[in-house]
Amino acid sequence: MNLNNVDPQNQAKVIPLDQDDRQHEVMLNDLQGNILKGHGRHYTAHIFIKFGKDPTQARTWVKDFSKKITTAKEPIDRRKALDSGKQWKETTFTGFVLSAKGYQALDFKKNQIPSDPKFRKGMKASRTDLHDRPSQEWDEPYRDEIHAMIILAHKDEEQLRVERRQLRDSIKHTKGALEEITTEKGRVLPPDQHGNIVEHFGYVDGRSQPLFLKEDIESQRRREGIDQYDPSTPLNLVLASDPNGCKTNNSFGSYFVFRKLEQDVKGFKKTEESLAKTLGLKGDKEKELAGALVVGRFEDGTPVTLQYGEGMDQPVFNNFNYQNDSNGSKCPFQGHIRKVNPRSVSTKSRIEEREHRIARRGITYGKRKKDMEDRPENGVGLLFMCFQADIAKQFEHLQRMANDTTNGLDPIIGQTSDKKTPLQQQWPCEWAGKNRKTQPFDFQGFVTLKGGEYFFAPSISFLQNIDKI
Ligand code: HEM
Repeated sequence: MNLNNVDPQNQAKVIPLDQDDRQHEVMLNDLQGNILKGHGRHYTAHIFIKFGKDPTQARTWVKDFSKKITTAKEPIDRRKALDSGKQWKETTFTGFVLSAKGYQALDFKKNQIPSDPKFRKGMKASRTDLHDRPSQEWDEPYRDEIHAMIILAHKDEEQLRVERRQLRDSIKHTKGALEEITTEKGRVLPPDQHGNIVEHFGYVDGRSQPLFLKEDIESQRRREGIDQYDPSTPLNLVLASDPNGCKTNNSFGSYFVFRKLEQDVKGFKKTEESLAKTLGLKGDKEKELAGALVVGRFEDGTPVTLQYGEGMDQPVFNNFNYQNDSNGSKCPFQGHIRKVNPRSVSTKSRIEEREHRIARRGITYGKRKKDMEDRPENGVGLLFMCFQADIAKQFEHLQRMANDTTNGLDPIIGQTSDKKTPLQQQWPCEWAGKNRKTQPFDFQGFVTLKGGEYFFAPSISFLQNIDKI
Protein backbone atom coordinates (compact mmCIF):
# COMPACT_ATOMS: atom_id res chain seq x y z
CA MET A 1 0.00 0.00 0.00
CA ASN A 2 1.25 3.46 -0.95
CA LEU A 3 1.69 5.69 2.11
CA ASN A 4 2.56 8.77 0.07
CA ASN A 5 -1.06 9.38 -0.86
CA VAL A 6 -0.70 12.77 -2.50
CA ASP A 7 -1.88 13.85 -5.92
CA PRO A 8 1.06 13.16 -8.32
CA GLN A 9 0.16 16.37 -10.25
CA ASN A 10 0.05 18.50 -7.10
CA GLN A 11 2.20 17.46 -4.15
CA ALA A 12 0.28 19.78 -1.80
CA LYS A 13 -2.98 17.89 -2.40
CA VAL A 14 -3.64 14.79 -0.29
CA ILE A 15 -5.89 12.01 -1.51
CA PRO A 16 -7.33 10.97 1.88
CA LEU A 17 -7.88 7.40 2.98
CA ASP A 18 -11.40 6.33 2.14
CA GLN A 19 -12.39 4.16 5.08
CA ASP A 20 -15.22 2.59 3.05
CA ASP A 21 -12.85 1.39 0.34
CA ARG A 22 -12.46 -2.34 1.00
CA GLN A 23 -8.98 -2.33 -0.54
CA HIS A 24 -7.72 -0.76 2.65
CA GLU A 25 -9.31 -3.29 4.94
CA VAL A 26 -6.23 -5.55 5.23
CA MET A 27 -4.05 -2.62 6.23
CA LEU A 28 -6.55 -1.20 8.74
CA ASN A 29 -7.10 -4.61 10.33
CA ASP A 30 -3.36 -5.13 10.79
CA LEU A 31 -2.70 -1.63 12.16
CA GLN A 32 -3.25 -0.78 15.82
CA GLY A 33 -6.03 1.66 16.69
CA ASN A 34 -5.47 5.20 18.04
CA ILE A 35 -2.90 6.08 15.34
CA LEU A 36 -5.05 7.36 12.49
CA LYS A 37 -7.89 8.34 14.82
CA GLY A 38 -8.03 8.71 18.62
CA HIS A 39 -9.68 5.84 20.55
CA GLY A 40 -12.18 8.32 22.04
CA ARG A 41 -12.51 6.80 25.55
CA HIS A 42 -12.37 9.03 28.67
CA TYR A 43 -10.57 6.70 31.11
CA THR A 44 -7.19 5.08 30.42
CA ALA A 45 -4.58 2.93 32.15
CA HIS A 46 -1.00 2.89 30.90
CA ILE A 47 0.77 -0.18 32.21
CA PHE A 48 4.56 -0.11 31.91
CA ILE A 49 6.26 -3.48 31.58
CA LYS A 50 9.69 -4.99 31.96
CA PHE A 51 10.40 -8.45 30.53
CA GLY A 52 12.27 -10.99 32.67
CA LYS A 53 14.96 -13.48 31.73
CA ASP A 54 12.75 -15.84 29.72
CA PRO A 55 12.04 -14.23 26.32
CA THR A 56 10.28 -17.35 25.02
CA GLN A 57 7.72 -17.22 27.80
CA ALA A 58 7.32 -13.45 27.42
CA ARG A 59 6.74 -13.87 23.68
CA THR A 60 4.10 -16.55 24.35
CA TRP A 61 2.30 -14.14 26.69
CA VAL A 62 2.39 -11.33 24.10
CA LYS A 63 1.07 -13.66 21.39
CA ASP A 64 -1.86 -14.62 23.61
CA PHE A 65 -2.48 -10.96 24.55
CA SER A 66 -2.45 -9.88 20.88
CA LYS A 67 -6.00 -11.30 20.51
CA LYS A 68 -7.22 -8.33 22.55
CA ILE A 69 -5.54 -5.59 20.54
CA THR A 70 -7.88 -3.08 18.93
CA THR A 71 -7.49 -2.53 15.20
CA ALA A 72 -7.35 0.84 13.42
CA LYS A 73 -10.78 0.09 12.00
CA GLU A 74 -12.53 0.04 15.36
CA PRO A 75 -12.25 3.76 16.35
CA ILE A 76 -13.42 4.66 12.82
CA ASP A 77 -16.47 2.38 13.03
CA ARG A 78 -17.20 3.48 16.62
CA ARG A 79 -17.18 7.19 15.77
CA LYS A 80 -19.33 6.61 12.71
CA ALA A 81 -21.93 4.67 14.70
CA LEU A 82 -22.03 7.18 17.57
CA ASP A 83 -22.28 10.18 15.20
CA SER A 84 -25.18 8.64 13.32
CA GLY A 85 -27.02 7.70 16.55
CA LYS A 86 -26.63 3.95 15.92
CA GLN A 87 -26.28 1.43 18.77
CA TRP A 88 -22.66 0.73 19.70
CA LYS A 89 -21.54 -1.83 22.24
CA GLU A 90 -18.75 -0.14 24.18
CA THR A 91 -15.59 -2.19 24.54
CA THR A 92 -12.13 -1.77 26.03
CA PHE A 93 -9.59 -0.23 23.72
CA THR A 94 -6.31 -2.16 23.96
CA GLY A 95 -2.93 -1.14 22.54
CA PHE A 96 0.59 -2.53 22.89
CA VAL A 97 3.88 -0.69 22.20
CA LEU A 98 7.50 -1.84 22.52
CA SER A 99 10.69 0.12 23.27
CA ALA A 100 14.00 -0.72 21.54
CA LYS A 101 15.19 -2.24 24.83
CA GLY A 102 11.97 -4.27 24.79
CA TYR A 103 12.79 -5.77 21.37
CA GLN A 104 16.26 -6.64 22.70
CA ALA A 105 14.86 -8.21 25.87
CA LEU A 106 12.60 -10.36 23.66
CA ASP A 107 15.73 -11.50 21.84
CA PHE A 108 15.14 -9.83 18.48
CA LYS A 109 18.13 -9.33 16.20
CA LYS A 110 19.30 -5.84 15.30
CA ASN A 111 17.79 -5.94 11.79
CA GLN A 112 14.41 -6.87 13.28
CA ILE A 113 14.27 -3.73 15.44
CA PRO A 114 12.46 -0.77 13.79
CA SER A 115 15.13 1.43 12.31
CA ASP A 116 14.44 5.01 13.51
CA PRO A 117 17.78 5.98 15.14
CA LYS A 118 16.13 8.00 17.92
CA PHE A 119 13.84 5.07 18.75
CA ARG A 120 16.81 2.71 18.89
CA LYS A 121 18.67 4.98 21.34
CA GLY A 122 15.67 5.74 23.57
CA MET A 123 14.46 9.03 25.07
CA LYS A 124 17.20 9.34 27.70
CA ALA A 125 19.84 9.66 24.94
CA SER A 126 18.20 12.90 23.72
CA ARG A 127 18.41 14.59 27.11
CA THR A 128 21.07 17.19 26.24
CA ASP A 129 19.62 17.96 22.84
CA LEU A 130 16.12 18.57 24.23
CA HIS A 131 17.27 20.20 27.49
CA ASP A 132 15.38 17.51 29.43
CA ARG A 133 15.90 17.08 33.16
CA PRO A 134 18.33 14.27 33.98
CA SER A 135 16.54 10.93 34.28
CA GLN A 136 17.82 10.54 37.88
CA GLU A 137 15.33 13.31 38.72
CA TRP A 138 12.39 11.59 37.00
CA ASP A 139 9.75 9.61 38.88
CA GLU A 140 11.47 6.47 40.09
CA PRO A 141 9.82 3.88 37.79
CA TYR A 142 11.04 5.76 34.69
CA ARG A 143 14.69 5.90 35.69
CA ASP A 144 15.35 2.28 34.76
CA GLU A 145 14.67 0.42 31.48
CA ILE A 146 11.10 0.16 30.23
CA HIS A 147 10.33 -2.57 27.69
CA ALA A 148 6.69 -2.13 26.77
CA MET A 149 3.53 -0.24 27.54
CA ILE A 150 -0.02 -1.52 27.40
CA ILE A 151 -2.84 0.99 26.97
CA LEU A 152 -6.29 0.07 28.19
CA ALA A 153 -9.08 2.59 27.71
CA HIS A 154 -12.80 2.53 28.38
CA LYS A 155 -15.78 4.86 28.45
CA ASP A 156 -16.63 3.52 31.90
CA GLU A 157 -14.16 3.83 34.80
CA GLU A 158 -15.40 0.73 36.64
CA GLN A 159 -15.19 -1.42 33.52
CA LEU A 160 -11.61 -0.24 33.04
CA ARG A 161 -10.80 -1.23 36.63
CA VAL A 162 -12.09 -4.77 35.96
CA GLU A 163 -9.92 -5.07 32.85
CA ARG A 164 -6.88 -3.76 34.70
CA ARG A 165 -7.33 -6.30 37.48
CA GLN A 166 -7.55 -9.13 34.94
CA LEU A 167 -4.42 -7.91 33.21
CA ARG A 168 -2.56 -7.63 36.50
CA ASP A 169 -3.50 -11.24 37.39
CA SER A 170 -2.40 -12.45 33.99
CA ILE A 171 0.98 -10.71 34.36
CA LYS A 172 1.41 -12.20 37.85
CA HIS A 173 0.80 -15.67 36.41
CA THR A 174 3.89 -15.34 34.20
CA LYS A 175 6.02 -15.62 37.38
CA GLY A 176 8.51 -12.97 36.33
CA ALA A 177 8.50 -13.31 32.51
CA LEU A 178 6.72 -9.95 32.67
CA GLU A 179 6.76 -7.44 35.49
CA GLU A 180 4.53 -4.39 35.92
CA ILE A 181 6.79 -1.42 36.70
CA THR A 182 4.14 1.24 37.17
CA THR A 183 0.71 2.25 35.92
CA GLU A 184 -0.45 5.76 35.02
CA LYS A 185 -4.14 6.54 35.08
CA GLY A 186 -5.49 9.00 32.52
CA ARG A 187 -8.86 10.69 32.90
CA VAL A 188 -10.54 13.39 30.89
CA LEU A 189 -11.23 16.51 33.01
CA PRO A 190 -14.75 17.92 33.42
CA PRO A 191 -15.47 19.39 29.96
CA ASP A 192 -16.10 23.12 29.37
CA GLN A 193 -19.65 24.47 28.91
CA HIS A 194 -19.65 23.41 25.24
CA GLY A 195 -18.53 19.87 26.07
CA ASN A 196 -14.95 20.44 24.87
CA ILE A 197 -12.02 18.57 26.39
CA VAL A 198 -9.70 20.82 28.45
CA GLU A 199 -6.24 20.44 29.97
CA HIS A 200 -5.24 21.41 33.54
CA PHE A 201 -4.41 25.08 32.86
CA GLY A 202 -8.04 25.35 31.71
CA TYR A 203 -7.63 25.54 27.90
CA VAL A 204 -9.48 23.50 25.30
CA ASP A 205 -7.03 20.91 23.96
CA GLY A 206 -6.77 18.35 21.17
CA ARG A 207 -8.48 20.46 18.51
CA SER A 208 -5.81 20.84 15.85
CA GLN A 209 -4.79 17.44 14.53
CA PRO A 210 -3.53 16.06 11.23
CA LEU A 211 -6.47 14.29 9.58
CA PHE A 212 -6.02 11.12 7.52
CA LEU A 213 -9.54 9.91 6.79
CA LYS A 214 -11.80 11.19 4.04
CA GLU A 215 -14.78 11.48 6.36
CA ASP A 216 -12.86 13.54 8.96
CA ILE A 217 -11.56 15.94 6.32
CA GLU A 218 -14.97 16.30 4.69
CA SER A 219 -16.55 17.00 8.06
CA GLN A 220 -13.99 19.78 8.74
CA ARG A 221 -14.56 21.19 5.23
CA ARG A 222 -18.35 21.26 5.79
CA ARG A 223 -18.15 22.81 9.26
CA GLU A 224 -15.72 25.67 8.77
CA GLY A 225 -13.70 25.09 5.59
CA ILE A 226 -10.08 24.13 5.02
CA ASP A 227 -9.05 27.04 2.79
CA GLN A 228 -7.02 28.89 5.48
CA TYR A 229 -5.55 25.80 7.12
CA ASP A 230 -5.75 22.38 5.53
CA PRO A 231 -5.44 19.51 8.06
CA SER A 232 -5.44 16.71 5.45
CA THR A 233 -2.34 14.57 5.78
CA PRO A 234 -0.67 11.71 3.92
CA LEU A 235 -0.32 8.41 5.79
CA ASN A 236 3.48 8.55 5.73
CA LEU A 237 3.38 11.29 8.38
CA VAL A 238 2.57 8.64 10.99
CA LEU A 239 2.97 5.19 9.44
CA ALA A 240 6.24 3.31 9.03
CA SER A 241 6.69 -0.14 7.56
CA ASP A 242 6.84 -2.85 10.25
CA PRO A 243 10.00 -4.95 9.58
CA ASN A 244 8.32 -7.98 11.18
CA GLY A 245 4.78 -7.61 9.82
CA CYS A 246 3.21 -10.63 8.14
CA LYS A 247 0.85 -8.96 5.64
CA THR A 248 3.02 -8.30 2.60
CA ASN A 249 3.18 -4.54 1.85
CA ASN A 250 0.29 -3.96 4.23
CA SER A 251 1.85 -4.22 7.71
CA PHE A 252 2.57 -0.89 9.33
CA GLY A 253 3.36 0.53 12.71
CA SER A 254 4.06 3.96 14.16
CA TYR A 255 6.67 5.47 16.45
CA PHE A 256 5.13 6.56 19.73
CA VAL A 257 6.41 9.16 22.18
CA PHE A 258 5.27 9.08 25.81
CA ARG A 259 6.11 11.89 28.26
CA LYS A 260 4.63 12.37 31.71
CA LEU A 261 4.40 16.17 32.04
CA GLU A 262 3.45 17.51 35.46
CA GLN A 263 1.63 20.86 35.52
CA ASP A 264 1.93 23.47 38.28
CA VAL A 265 -1.51 25.03 37.94
CA LYS A 266 -1.06 27.46 40.83
CA GLY A 267 2.23 28.84 39.48
CA PHE A 268 0.84 29.12 35.95
CA LYS A 269 -2.32 30.95 37.00
CA LYS A 270 -0.44 33.36 39.27
CA THR A 271 2.02 34.20 36.49
CA GLU A 272 -0.84 34.63 34.02
CA GLU A 273 -2.22 37.27 36.41
CA SER A 274 1.18 38.99 36.71
CA LEU A 275 1.49 39.08 32.91
CA ALA A 276 -1.98 40.67 32.68
CA LYS A 277 -0.89 43.29 35.22
CA THR A 278 2.34 43.99 33.34
CA LEU A 279 0.39 44.50 30.11
CA GLY A 280 -2.13 46.77 31.85
CA LEU A 281 -5.05 44.36 31.30
CA LYS A 282 -7.68 45.13 33.95
CA GLY A 283 -11.24 43.76 33.80
CA ASP A 284 -11.88 40.01 34.14
CA LYS A 285 -12.57 39.73 30.40
CA GLU A 286 -9.45 41.71 29.46
CA LYS A 287 -7.27 39.62 31.75
CA GLU A 288 -8.20 36.52 29.76
CA LEU A 289 -6.04 37.91 26.98
CA ALA A 290 -2.81 37.28 28.94
CA GLY A 291 -3.34 33.50 28.94
CA ALA A 292 -4.46 33.59 25.31
CA LEU A 293 -1.13 35.20 24.37
CA VAL A 294 0.67 32.38 26.20
CA VAL A 295 -1.26 29.52 24.58
CA GLY A 296 -2.27 31.16 21.29
CA ARG A 297 -5.91 30.39 21.99
CA PHE A 298 -8.34 31.64 24.66
CA GLU A 299 -9.55 29.11 27.22
CA ASP A 300 -12.60 28.37 25.04
CA GLY A 301 -10.30 27.65 22.07
CA THR A 302 -10.77 30.91 20.13
CA PRO A 303 -7.50 31.64 18.29
CA VAL A 304 -6.05 34.91 19.67
CA THR A 305 -4.77 35.83 16.22
CA LEU A 306 -8.39 36.19 15.06
CA GLN A 307 -10.03 38.23 17.80
CA TYR A 308 -9.41 40.14 21.01
CA GLY A 309 -11.75 38.15 23.24
CA GLU A 310 -13.35 34.74 23.72
CA GLY A 311 -16.45 33.57 21.91
CA MET A 312 -15.68 32.04 18.53
CA ASP A 313 -18.46 29.79 17.24
CA GLN A 314 -18.39 26.20 18.42
CA PRO A 315 -16.92 23.73 17.54
CA VAL A 316 -13.52 25.29 18.28
CA PHE A 317 -12.22 27.03 15.18
CA ASN A 318 -9.19 25.65 13.31
CA ASN A 319 -9.41 27.11 9.80
CA PHE A 320 -6.93 29.94 10.36
CA ASN A 321 -3.32 31.00 9.82
CA TYR A 322 -1.11 33.91 10.87
CA GLN A 323 -1.01 35.73 7.50
CA ASN A 324 -2.63 38.85 8.97
CA ASP A 325 -0.39 38.80 12.02
CA SER A 326 3.05 38.86 10.48
CA ASN A 327 4.54 41.00 13.29
CA GLY A 328 3.09 38.89 16.12
CA SER A 329 1.01 41.74 17.55
CA LYS A 330 -2.06 39.51 17.90
CA CYS A 331 -0.48 36.14 18.66
CA PRO A 332 3.17 36.47 19.78
CA PHE A 333 5.66 34.19 18.01
CA GLN A 334 6.33 32.31 21.25
CA GLY A 335 2.62 31.54 21.85
CA HIS A 336 2.53 27.73 22.27
CA ILE A 337 0.43 26.84 19.26
CA ARG A 338 2.25 29.29 16.97
CA LYS A 339 5.64 27.91 18.05
CA VAL A 340 4.75 24.29 17.34
CA ASN A 341 2.71 25.02 14.21
CA PRO A 342 3.50 28.35 12.50
CA ARG A 343 0.86 27.61 9.79
CA SER A 344 2.96 29.27 7.05
CA VAL A 345 1.18 30.18 3.85
CA SER A 346 4.13 30.27 1.44
CA THR A 347 4.16 26.93 -0.43
CA LYS A 348 7.81 26.11 0.29
CA SER A 349 7.69 26.65 4.08
CA ARG A 350 4.25 25.08 4.26
CA ILE A 351 5.36 21.81 2.67
CA GLU A 352 8.47 21.65 4.88
CA GLU A 353 6.59 22.61 8.03
CA ARG A 354 3.82 20.08 7.52
CA GLU A 355 6.36 17.24 7.70
CA HIS A 356 6.96 18.08 11.38
CA ARG A 357 3.38 17.51 12.49
CA ILE A 358 2.42 14.81 14.99
CA ALA A 359 -0.80 12.96 15.83
CA ARG A 360 -1.34 13.98 19.47
CA ARG A 361 -3.12 11.38 21.59
CA GLY A 362 -2.47 12.65 25.14
CA ILE A 363 -4.80 12.57 28.13
CA THR A 364 -4.78 14.45 31.44
CA TYR A 365 -3.96 12.70 34.72
CA GLY A 366 -4.79 13.60 38.31
CA LYS A 367 -8.07 14.61 39.93
CA ARG A 368 -9.51 18.13 40.05
CA LYS A 369 -12.54 19.67 41.68
CA LYS A 370 -15.61 19.67 39.44
CA ASP A 371 -15.50 23.46 39.05
CA MET A 372 -11.70 23.35 38.35
CA GLU A 373 -11.31 26.23 40.83
CA ASP A 374 -8.62 24.38 42.82
CA ARG A 375 -5.07 25.16 41.83
CA PRO A 376 -2.81 22.16 42.47
CA GLU A 377 0.94 22.68 42.33
CA ASN A 378 1.75 19.04 41.60
CA GLY A 379 0.22 15.59 41.16
CA VAL A 380 -1.65 16.61 37.99
CA GLY A 381 -0.59 16.97 34.38
CA LEU A 382 -0.63 15.60 30.89
CA LEU A 383 0.29 12.10 29.77
CA PHE A 384 1.61 13.50 26.50
CA MET A 385 1.53 10.93 23.71
CA CYS A 386 2.01 11.28 19.99
CA PHE A 387 2.44 9.12 16.89
CA GLN A 388 4.81 9.85 14.01
CA ALA A 389 6.95 8.21 11.33
CA ASP A 390 10.22 9.88 12.36
CA ILE A 391 10.95 10.94 15.96
CA ALA A 392 13.81 13.36 15.15
CA LYS A 393 11.88 15.12 12.40
CA GLN A 394 8.61 15.31 14.28
CA PHE A 395 8.41 15.24 18.11
CA GLU A 396 12.04 16.23 18.69
CA HIS A 397 11.90 18.98 16.08
CA LEU A 398 8.83 20.48 17.77
CA GLN A 399 10.42 20.31 21.23
CA ARG A 400 13.56 21.97 19.82
CA MET A 401 11.46 24.74 18.23
CA ALA A 402 9.72 25.23 21.58
CA ASN A 403 13.14 25.52 23.25
CA ASP A 404 14.49 27.95 20.65
CA THR A 405 14.68 31.44 22.18
CA THR A 406 15.28 33.34 18.90
CA ASN A 407 11.67 34.49 18.82
CA GLY A 408 10.97 33.77 22.48
CA LEU A 409 10.81 30.52 24.45
CA ASP A 410 7.54 28.56 24.31
CA PRO A 411 6.01 29.56 27.71
CA ILE A 412 4.31 26.17 28.16
CA ILE A 413 6.80 23.50 27.12
CA GLY A 414 9.99 25.44 26.33
CA GLN A 415 13.04 24.20 28.22
CA THR A 416 16.41 25.95 28.54
CA SER A 417 19.70 24.28 29.37
CA ASP A 418 20.31 26.62 32.30
CA LYS A 419 18.57 29.32 34.30
CA LYS A 420 20.79 32.03 32.75
CA THR A 421 19.56 31.69 29.13
CA PRO A 422 17.48 34.81 28.32
CA LEU A 423 13.97 33.74 27.33
CA GLN A 424 13.53 36.62 24.83
CA GLN A 425 9.78 36.71 25.32
CA GLN A 426 8.18 39.97 24.16
CA TRP A 427 4.46 40.45 24.73
CA PRO A 428 2.30 42.89 22.70
CA CYS A 429 1.15 45.83 24.85
CA GLU A 430 -1.85 46.38 22.60
CA TRP A 431 -3.64 43.67 20.64
CA ALA A 432 -3.06 44.41 16.90
CA GLY A 433 -1.54 47.71 18.03
CA LYS A 434 -0.13 49.89 15.27
CA ASN A 435 2.89 51.03 17.31
CA ARG A 436 3.99 47.37 17.80
CA LYS A 437 5.09 48.15 21.35
CA THR A 438 6.03 45.09 23.37
CA GLN A 439 6.91 44.36 26.97
CA PRO A 440 9.45 41.77 28.13
CA PHE A 441 8.14 39.25 30.68
CA ASP A 442 9.54 35.82 31.59
CA PHE A 443 7.01 33.01 31.46
CA GLN A 444 8.48 29.55 32.02
CA GLY A 445 8.71 26.52 34.27
CA PHE A 446 5.18 25.28 34.94
CA VAL A 447 5.52 21.97 33.08
CA THR A 448 8.01 19.41 34.39
CA LEU A 449 9.10 16.19 32.70
CA LYS A 450 8.61 13.29 35.11
CA GLY A 451 9.55 10.43 32.80
CA GLY A 452 9.07 9.01 29.35
CA GLU A 453 10.26 6.73 26.58
CA TYR A 454 10.18 6.19 22.82
CA PHE A 455 8.15 3.20 21.60
CA PHE A 456 6.95 1.53 18.42
CA ALA A 457 3.35 0.40 17.96
CA PRO A 458 3.92 -2.71 15.80
CA SER A 459 1.50 -4.35 13.40
CA ILE A 460 -0.98 -6.82 14.87
CA SER A 461 0.20 -9.69 12.62
CA PHE A 462 3.70 -9.34 14.10
CA LEU A 463 2.34 -9.66 17.65
CA GLN A 464 0.17 -12.62 16.62
CA ASN A 465 3.23 -14.43 15.25
CA ILE A 466 5.79 -13.16 17.75
CA ASP A 467 6.59 -16.70 18.94
CA LYS A 468 7.77 -17.70 15.41
CA ILE A 469 9.61 -14.59 14.20
C1 HEM B 1 1.56 20.00 29.66
C2 HEM B 1 2.00 20.25 28.45
C3 HEM B 1 1.16 20.82 27.36
C4 HEM B 1 0.03 21.61 27.42
C5 HEM B 1 -0.66 22.14 28.67
C6 HEM B 1 -0.38 21.86 26.05
C7 HEM B 1 -1.50 22.62 25.70
C8 HEM B 1 -1.95 22.79 24.42
C9 HEM B 1 -3.16 23.50 24.07
C10 HEM B 1 -4.13 24.13 25.05
C11 HEM B 1 -3.27 23.47 22.71
C12 HEM B 1 -4.38 24.09 21.87
C13 HEM B 1 -5.38 23.10 21.39
C14 HEM B 1 -5.24 22.69 19.95
O1 HEM B 1 -4.93 23.54 19.09
O2 HEM B 1 -5.42 21.51 19.66
C15 HEM B 1 -2.11 22.75 22.20
C16 HEM B 1 -1.85 22.50 20.87
C17 HEM B 1 -0.72 21.87 20.41
N1 HEM B 1 0.31 21.36 21.15
FE1 HEM B 1 0.47 21.40 23.17
N2 HEM B 1 0.50 21.26 25.19
C18 HEM B 1 1.46 20.61 25.94
C19 HEM B 1 2.51 19.86 25.47
C20 HEM B 1 2.86 19.77 24.15
C21 HEM B 1 4.06 19.10 23.65
C22 HEM B 1 5.11 18.40 24.52
C23 HEM B 1 4.04 19.22 22.30
C24 HEM B 1 5.07 18.73 21.29
C25 HEM B 1 6.36 18.75 21.48
C26 HEM B 1 2.83 19.94 21.94
C27 HEM B 1 2.42 20.20 20.65
C28 HEM B 1 1.24 20.79 20.31
C29 HEM B 1 0.77 20.93 18.94
C30 HEM B 1 1.47 20.42 17.68
C31 HEM B 1 -0.46 21.61 19.00
C32 HEM B 1 -1.34 22.00 17.82
C33 HEM B 1 -0.96 23.35 17.29
C34 HEM B 1 -1.70 23.72 16.03
O3 HEM B 1 -1.82 22.89 15.13
O4 HEM B 1 -2.15 24.86 15.93
N3 HEM B 1 2.16 20.26 23.08
N4 HEM B 1 -1.32 22.36 23.26
